[in-house]
Amino acid sequence: MLFLVQLCVLTQYATGISAALTKRQTTEPNILDWIDPLIGSRSGGNVFVGATLPYGMVKAVADVDGENTGGFSTDGSNITGFSALHDSGTGGNPSLGNFPIFPQLCPSDDINTCKFPIAARATHYKNDSITARPGHFGVTLENGIKAEMTISERAALFRFNFSDASNGNGSMNPVIMLDLTDLWASRQNASISVEAEDGGATGQMKGNGTFLPSFGAGSYVAYFCLDISGGKVKDSGVWVNNRAGTEPKEIYVTRGFNLFYLQAGGYLRFQGPLAGPILARMGISFISTDQACQNAATEIPGPNFDFDGLVSVAQEAWRKKLAPISLEAGGVDDSMQTSFWSAVYRTMISPQNYTGENPHWQSSEPYFDSWYCIWDMWRVQLPFLTIIDPTTMSNMVRSLLDTYKHRGWLPDCMMSTCKGWTQGGSDADNVLVDAYVKNLTGIDWELAYEAIANDAENEPLEWSIEGRGGLRSWKTLNYIPYLDFDPIGFGTNSRSISRTLEYSYNDFSLATLAKELGKDTYTKYLSRSANWQNLFKVDQRSSINGVDTNFTGFFQPKYLNGTWGYQDPIACSPLADFCSLTSNPSETFESSAWEYMFFVPHDIGKVIELLGGEETFLKRLDFFHTSGLADIGNEPVFLTVYMPHYAGRPALSAERAHSYIPSRFNNSEAGLPGNDDSGAMASFTIFGMLGLFPNPGQNVYFIIPPFFKSVGITNPLTNKTSTIRNINFDKEYKNIYIQSAKLNGEEYTKNWIGHDFFTQGWTLELVLGDKESDWGTKLENRPPSVSAGNSQGQMKEKH
Ligand SMILES: *[C@@H]1O[C@H](CO)[C@@H](O)[C@H](O)[C@H]1NC(C)=O
Ligand SMILES: *[C@@H]1O[C@H](CO)[C@@H](O)[C@H](O)[C@H]1NC(C)=O
Ligand SMILES: *[C@@H]1O[C@H](CO)[C@@H](O)[C@H](O)[C@H]1NC(C)=O
Ligand SMILES: *[C@@H]1O[C@H](CO)[C@@H](O)[C@H](O)[C@H]1NC(C)=O
Ligand SMILES: *[C@@H]1O[C@H](CO)[C@@H](O)[C@H](O)[C@H]1NC(C)=O
Ligand SMILES: *[C@@H]1O[C@H](CO)[C@@H](O)[C@H](O)[C@H]1NC(C)=O
Ligand SMILES: *[C@@H]1O[C@H](CO)[C@@H](O)[C@H](O)[C@H]1NC(C)=O
Ligand SMILES: *[C@@H]1O[C@H](CO)[C@@H](O)[C@H](O)[C@H]1NC(C)=O
Ligand SMILES: *[C@@H]1O[C@H](CO)[C@@H](O)[C@H](O)[C@H]1NC(C)=O
Ligand SMILES: *[C@@H]1O[C@H](CO)[C@@H](O)[C@H](O)[C@H]1NC(C)=O
Ligand SMILES: *[C@@H]1O[C@H](CO)[C@@H](O)[C@H](O)[C@H]1NC(C)=O
Ligand SMILES: *[C@@H]1O[C@H](CO)[C@@H](O)[C@H](O)[C@H]1NC(C)=O
Repeated sequence: MLFLVQLCVLTQYATGISAALTKRQTTEPNILDWIDPLIGSRSGGNVFVGATLPYGMVKAVADVDGENTGGFSTDGSNITGFSALHDSGTGGNPSLGNFPIFPQLCPSDDINTCKFPIAARATHYKNDSITARPGHFGVTLENGIKAEMTISERAALFRFNFSDASNGNGSMNPVIMLDLTDLWASRQNASISVEAEDGGATGQMKGNGTFLPSFGAGSYVAYFCLDISGGKVKDSGVWVNNRAGTEPKEIYVTRGFNLFYLQAGGYLRFQGPLAGPILARMGISFISTDQACQNAATEIPGPNFDFDGLVSVAQEAWRKKLAPISLEAGGVDDSMQTSFWSAVYRTMISPQNYTGENPHWQSSEPYFDSWYCIWDMWRVQLPFLTIIDPTTMSNMVRSLLDTYKHRGWLPDCMMSTCKGWTQGGSDADNVLVDAYVKNLTGIDWELAYEAIANDAENEPLEWSIEGRGGLRSWKTLNYIPYLDFDPIGFGTNSRSISRTLEYSYNDFSLATLAKELGKDTYTKYLSRSANWQNLFKVDQRSSINGVDTNFTGFFQPKYLNGTWGYQDPIACSPLADFCSLTSNPSETFESSAWEYMFFVPHDIGKVIELLGGEETFLKRLDFFHTSGLADIGNEPVFLTVYMPHYAGRPALSAERAHSYIPSRFNNSEAGLPGNDDSGAMASFTIFGMLGLFPNPGQNVYFIIPPFFKSVGITNPLTNKTSTIRNINFDKEYKNIYIQSAKLNGEEYTKNWIGHDFFTQGWTLELVLGDKESDWGTKLENRPPSVSAGNSQGQMKEKH
């Protein structure tokens, strides 16, 4: 998913805060030194830059009033609070950010001199003060108050240091306030109670709030339990708008009939001057306040909270997650390694492990949340986790199946325990089948088949949040019609072309599983997987600014009665208006008919044939990538980069990958071309640099030379290390053409390889040169397609 408005943010601060890059330690080599969490923190990357464990539920960072979808941004906007729940890289509305706390020094004994409302308290930070590294985030406010944060699984620990506060002096009193809100001001109602003895050493605030998911339906309740210590409590109470008082000690806020948004919360005031920092431990739960308190007490025991110890635990957890990968850089610029390792880090921020925090059903199965959205994640992020963290990936798949069991449907998008909006097909189907073809273990495959078949056969009443729409037409007409008549279920009646393409691939996934499980439905679903061909209008042409592009044949919408409709093939491309679900519904979702022409992952051979053979196919691909039609910042484009493999030209895929990395995917704060979408942009970068790119749902990785001299990946289950080694590697990337290859010492001529490479610990040696060779070009060297279309390629074979 991609949110256009944020893509348009200019990069005027491009050089502002580069000093914030992680500092390299000189003593011991530390893989974490290569990680810069601030990559993608601006210009629409929407990356979460704060402290989190791998897949952690609690994510602590400063929240700003600018680009705050992921909480913080280096866009120069002001800090409004520090909170413990976030998503990363998402589009949609700013996600979570519930119950922000905020430190300040208030100038007189009168508590009403504190700035409580969000606009009043917003404060800039010292530009060079940001420190972001795995497990830790720190920033110093303009007024000198230093804030640091770290996390456990279900709790965050904040440390506020007032000693250098410039507007303070010994007679000013430090205040920690909590705001009953979230980043999106979606609160429906909330409660807080404050418990602190005047003169005591600690105070506690606890409560709950009902909020709206940032890209979904319904509402969710979050619970918090905040313990604050570090000084002598002067007094405590609640605040409403810009007034506060010591009585009462609790408050309940809701939305009035006019939906008025009252700003309110609790505060705790300490007697200044302080001897040391204030520590604030924030426990979070989606079950109850008691559980929030328990999570905090178990994971971050008091009374003396060990801040630095927690940071170490988090860093160790990250080191372990990164351990399967090793690189021999071969002299390439450090920025490439920073890009690579930071991207690996970002693939494990979401989905988030909410096991034990699911309010909707009880189960002994794992529960993962923040599938935001599977449309974004299935293509590269989840396939990457399958390689480096297969155990967690199995748990994620089990969580999807458990969701099916209890909700009746696989999720397509899910956040904050709520159902999210479906973007295209039922893409969890592809996730399950990718897990199958890659031999993930511990998964009930019969249940998986049942869940996918449910998507394929039964239309839900509300297909905006699960399953597929228009199934009656799908089964009888074999395409999703333009302006379908669909009295069975309800959803946004658009995207007929992209839904046809996605449902075709979903059915291909189901066919794959059916075949492997020996089901006789195999042929039925395989035949349905060819439905995409019904929307190919062979004589459709496309012009840009009145100039014919001279390519013929595009997908077009088709009415129920079989008559063609029309959508300009360049509509929804970067050369036209962006098409989101809500702002500009059209027949292709978030991308053009030009781009969707290549979205037939199972039958590119047939696409080549329909487009007139290899020569025109390659010409069209090239035109697509060089004319401004390709939207490299959104997921549907990913596979197009590697499509020359199907036409026997792996060299062109390598060239294309280098044309985008690092020019569009790099180590700067504005270094992502679109929303990271959890870790989608990250994984596109990683797979490109690794030199193996997946076609998920199939046992296929396209081979190009890695961007490093050699890379090794140790399978955490088998402990076997697979290696890809470049011979004749040059750091200037002139030699990016494979001349010959050896797999485990034997000549290897296929331009793709299967997942056994990773599980069996094989070694691939690629001999490089500065010119295209005939390696991997022959028909029998190309990746499989359902049709035999590519066996009659019209372009002359290169020999
Ligand atoms: C800090 O950065 C912001 C935005 O980049 C800029 O407007 C401001 O002038 C900078 N402040 C200082 C003290 O450099
Ligand atoms: C401390 O700050 C208060 C409030 O701004 C001010 O009234 C007082 O004079 C200051 N004291 C000193 C010693 O600077
Ligand atoms: C940001 O906060 C500073 C005070 O730290 C204030 O002067 C400035 O006006 C704020 N900027 C915005 C855009 O709110
Ligand atoms: C708080 O800041 C002061 C002044 O910079 C510093 O000396 C002290 O070590 C800091 N305290 C902590 C716990 O970091
Ligand atoms: C809070 O809001 C939710 C969602 O609107 C509603 O279901 C719930 O009843 C409200 N709770 C209270 C205590 O008003
Ligand atoms: C939130 O807390 C209030 C006050 O303790 C309580 O009355 C209410 O039931 C709680 N709401 C939920 C959804 O737990
Ligand atoms: C998820 O969280 C649960 C509960 O904290 C834990 O037992 C489990 O190991 C975690 N799973 C993964 C894959 O991190
Ligand atoms: C398509 O062909 C026409 C006629 O030869 C030519 O004028 C036009 O420039 C071509 N379009 C492009 C995009 O090259
Ligand atoms: C098919 O339906 C469309 C839309 O209602 C209409 O414009 C078109 O004329 C119809 N075609 C035929 C052959 O009836
Ligand atoms: C880094 O990537 C961004 C986003 O795609 C791009 O705008 C920028 O030009 C790139 N920077 C470099 C130095 O290539
Ligand atoms: C893999 O290595 C780890 C750590 O050395 C060890 O605990 C585990 O048993 C090994 N697993 C296999 C399958 O060899
Ligand atoms: C999956 O397991 C089967 C049976 O053990 C094996 O033949 C196959 O090679 C494995 N495939 C992958 C991708 O690991």
